[in-house]
Amino acid sequence: SIAPCRDRRGRPLRDLRISVMDRCNFRCSYCMPESTYHEGFRFLPPAERLDFDEIECVVRVAASLGVTKIRLTGGEPLLRPELPDLVSRLVRVPGIEDIALTTNGVLLPRCAQALWQAGLRRISVSLDSLDPAVFARMSGGRGAPQAVLKGIEAAQQAGFEGAIKINTVVQRGVNDAGVPDLLSYFRNTGCVVRLIEYMDVGNRNGWEKKDVVPSEDMLRRIHALWPLVPLSPHYQGEVARRYGYLDGAGEIGFISSVSAPFCGACSRARLSSDGKIYTCLFATQGQDLRALLRDQKQAERDASLRAVLSGIWGNRTDRYSEERAARSTHSAAALDAKADKIEMHYIGG
Ligand code: GTP
Ligand code: 5AD
Ligand code: SF4
Ligand code: SF4
Repeated sequence: SIAPCRDRRGRPLRDLRISVMDRCNFRCSYCMPESTYHEGFRFLPPAERLDFDEIECVVRVAASLGVTKIRLTGGEPLLRPELPDLVSRLVRVPGIEDIALTTNGVLLPRCAQALWQAGLRRISVSLDSLDPAVFARMSGGRGAPQAVLKGIEAAQQAGFEGAIKINTVVQRGVNDAGVPDLLSYFRNTGCVVRLIEYMDVGNRNGWEKKDVVPSEDMLRRIHALWPLVPLSPHYQGEVARRYGYLDGAGEIGFISSVSAPFCGACSRARLSSDGKIYTCLFATQGQDLRALLRDQKQAERDASLRAVLSGIWGNRTDRYSEERAARSTHSAAALDAKADKIEMHYIGG
């Protein structure tokens, strides 16, 4: 395999997360609150999005620098027309070993079969609550738990059984009390629920530390209902910490980027739908690859893209979540976070 490109902290470039669509059919309060993302909000016109040739080109070059893992995100990636065509192109790129999709699930009944046939093998579905009122509060009144569950069933039937993860963002006093219901539903189904600490992504969700339920607390609450045993990571730098139910009902995960940041092993680059590359989820600036992709002939563009990408990664020093943790222990004052972070719907999770 390829010797990966390394950043200034020695971290290899292994993952590329691609936002294929900045729009979403939900308006989650922690991601795209309706107050900002109303009818008048200017989303990207289609011509500003990278097309599939351009995305494939970035993936080929990224693979030549060590990327083996691709995640397709949004916004809502299933809103991107012909997404299965992109999947079938990317599965054929040499060096790419794993392609996954992050979705809110409601369009899966329409898309799951085509995605499986295109070669996709893993799906993560975001689902914060099974309680319709809580769900509506978190999704900005769009979708419904039953619609997401139908999507999950469609994915299981299409072949993704055993390859589905459920991502749950836990917000104190909003959905934390419903977590046991959610876990109970997915016990013995092969779906792995991952509880995600609510993060201060973007600038518009009004994040406060008190809204975060630390994973330790959730773990204690769940352990009291169903005893858990820690499992070893699948791979070095795995984002979620894994636990198995002692009674054999399956496994769950905790993603603790607030209470236990994992920047030290972060190998993730992010590509926005309009072709900017970001070296951190909390970056304030990306670097445009689209001009480079559009202004040059094929032969030249691969070489210059490779030089630009390796330069960007080579200069990388990002460790936002670790810095956030240091800030909040060193000063009691309110978090003095960067005020111009990139928004999550634009860069993906
Ligand atoms: P797999 O192990 O490949 O299944 O993926 P993953 O564990 O990275 O999961 P996924 O991509 O679904 O990410 C789940 C959630 O973890 C995201 O929605 C984010 O909330 C959080 N997350 C993922 N990557 C990062 C990261 O680089 N930094 C931070 N702070 N959070 C992340
Ligand atoms: N904190 C943690 N996770 C978030 N996601 C979106 N916004 C946040 C946030 N503020 C997650 C969603 C979904 C993915 C797209 O990103 O749960 O799984
Ligand atoms: Fe859409 Fe996911 Fe953001 Fe919710 S969290 S608004 S489903 S992209
Ligand atoms: Fe990586 Fe930035 Fe997340 Fe840290 S905060 S794990 S550097 S994306």
